[in-house]
Amino acid sequence: MDSRQKLVISGGRRIEGELAVQGAKNSVLVLLSAAVLAHGESILHNCPQLTDVDAACRILSCLGCRCVRSGGTICVDASTAAGFEIPESLMREMRSSIMFLGSVLGRTGRCRLSFPGGCELGARPIDLHLAALRQMGAEITEQHGYIECTAASGLHGARITLSFPSVGATENILLAAVTADGTTEIHNAAREPEICDLAAFLVKCGARISGAGGSVITIEGVERLYPAEHSVMPDRIVAGTYLCCAAATGGELILSRCKSEDMTAFLAVLESMGCRAYSYGDGKLYFDAQRRLTAPPTIRTMPYPGFPTDIQAPIMAVTTLARGTSVFVETIFDNRYRHVPELVRLGASIKAEGRVAVVEGVRSLSGAKVHAAELRGGAALVTAALAAEGTSEISGVCYIDRGYDSIENVLRSVGADIKRVTEK
Ligand code: EPZ
Repeated sequence: MDSRQKLVISGGRRIEGELAVQGAKNSVLVLLSAAVLAHGESILHNCPQLTDVDAACRILSCLGCRCVRSGGTICVDASTAAGFEIPESLMREMRSSIMFLGSVLGRTGRCRLSFPGGCELGARPIDLHLAALRQMGAEITEQHGYIECTAASGLHGARITLSFPSVGATENILLAAVTADGTTEIHNAAREPEICDLAAFLVKCGARISGAGGSVITIEGVERLYPAEHSVMPDRIVAGTYLCCAAATGGELILSRCKSEDMTAFLAVLESMGCRAYSYGDGKLYFDAQRRLTAPPTIRTMPYPGFPTDIQAPIMAVTTLARGTSVFVETIFDNRYRHVPELVRLGASIKAEGRVAVVEGVRSLSGAKVHAAELRGGAALVTAALAAEGTSEISGVCYIDRGYDSIENVLRSVGADIKRVTEK
């Protein structure tokens, strides 16, 4: 990741045109982990070009898998996968590497990785992951910053109730349960669409799963899994981010390869603000926005199907220019307002205190030099800079590249004046 790169945006131009939505980062990463379980070569299509995907492929290579990428397709041959250790450097590069725990444990009966630690969003505990795997028979020790997991006599099914519908914990339990001995039930499971995409792939590999997408998921363990071919679902967060760019600039977009049924809570907020959104089948969504939108009174992030935390920052950028005041309540992460001071540098009027942020709409934003400190906050700065008068420079592009495939090319294709430069 080249930390010297920045995006230079000349704002005030409408975002309008048509673009195809990339494959979902938060699905492809866990699908790459799931491929470890299949004895043979699995093929994943519609994979986005992201630095996090590159990191996941490096982890697969460490585990003894052969990972070959050709355009949007990644082939993972896990025939001889026997590795069980994820190097600390890769754990630090991508904390969501924790999602390899369940698949490596299921495949090899062991897993050793360094504690994922916190990230830009605050503490990222994994207590729910570890408690569930212990219920399935894993012996887990945590010492010297490492987690050692063993299941010498294999994992067994269990009835697991999550105190919080954690996406990652639900995924790790699914990955561990598909070849465990007996039946596993997950209660209060995460219902995110990415869970359904993972379950669909695992079923193609021979797993027996029912209830994915609901709060109770049942998995009957099978002897072994076989390779499969799968197309990664569209990225609902990236789709939503680009709609925010259109909304902030009074623009108009047609999205293709988009699953609007995964975006209902978020689309409802944009419509309440004065935008129009029509999905007209075969993955197409028409969207347009009035010049000045009305501020939504309250935006509270919730587990799916509630308002997604990953869209909180991009839509906050839209509300900075709306008529009225919006109150944001971030219920999922404890440090997800790092974009606020940077939006204020662009002229926004925002007060953040703990998990609450109050945004008073202003008539205009003005270009400035700002810094992206994490992925979705960076996307919010891009959104605001597109609407701001004058030129903005956004550093910390490496964070944005973790989740957005060629963001400057995509936005330029729908009218933005944006370029990527490397600082001397
Ligand atoms: C996934 O993270 C996504 N990442 C996140 O997207 C997304 O914001 C999040 O789900 C919620 O939708 C990937 O899929 C790679 P969680 P994850 O476990 O699995 C607490 C992005 O921008 N918790 O549902 O880590 C945790 O602290 C990223 O694309 C525990 O307390 O989310 C947090 O407050 C950011 N103990 C809350 O649950 C645990 O053992 C949500 O975490 C696990 C989680």
